[in-house]
Amino acid sequence: MQAIIGGTGLYHLTGLVMTRRQAVRTPYGEPSGALTYGRIGDGPEIVFLARHGYGHTLAPHRINYRANLWALHEVGVRRIVSVATVGGITPTLSAGTIVVPDQIIDYTTDRPRTFFEGGDQPVAHVDMTQPYGAAMRQDLLASAQACNVAVVDGGVYGCTQGPRLETAAEIRRMGRDGCDMVGMTGMPEASLARELELDYAALCLVTNDAAGKGASVDEISMEGMRAVVDNSMKDVHRILGELVSGRCSSDAA
Ligand code: HPA
Repeated sequence: MQAIIGGTGLYHLTGLVMTRRQAVRTPYGEPSGALTYGRIGDGPEIVFLARHGYGHTLAPHRINYRANLWALHEVGVRRIVSVATVGGITPTLSAGTIVVPDQIIDYTTDRPRTFFEGGDQPVAHVDMTQPYGAAMRQDLLASAQACNVAVVDGGVYGCTQGPRLETAAEIRRMGRDGCDMVGMTGMPEASLARELELDYAALCLVTNDAAGKGASVDEISMEGMRAVVDNSMKDVHRILGELVSGRCSSDAA
């Protein structure tokens, strides 16, 4: 089964007809909310989970990533699309651009980040050379193409701790490190997915120039970010609709 983890601005899926909801408890605590099952059109049943909670109550550093991934795995999910908003560091990643990143740099601190806690468990070092699942990435790219939505194939996602935004100097440093975009939720989600052997990829909407760049040279406009979400999330819905039902969601709705 396939799951979609929705980020800021994506609390439901266009065209998704809900079949049931399920509260799942895990050894790691509670996920961000109940799992929502549903279908778009005559597609197979999928699971949706709002990463920040259904009323957007959880800040990035408060999200129980382990519970979210564990719960999805427990109910039989094997592939996940993670939707997230990001700031653009590379100038070509301007607001409104959609990216399927292919690499990650993790700057987070202080987040529980593994299911392998030691004790009587064998030591496990999962391979993260390619942090995203190749098949899931290709399916996302193919769905975007089928819907005529332009997406950028590849880019380095730098994940910060948040919840504050970055300083201009931090973004300059991230740029020197090789980051193309910055967000707050990509890790440890991706590595936890890998620990559970899930096919996991991300679909990122650029909502703003990162701190100190382009239009954000002096500050990042929150209204600007909201406006981009309002204008461009429909393209994300189209890609997801195609992915889960074989029809771009605006056609299916
Ligand atoms: N920084 C971190 N996370 C973000 C940003 C940003 O500029 N925009 C959207 N999510």
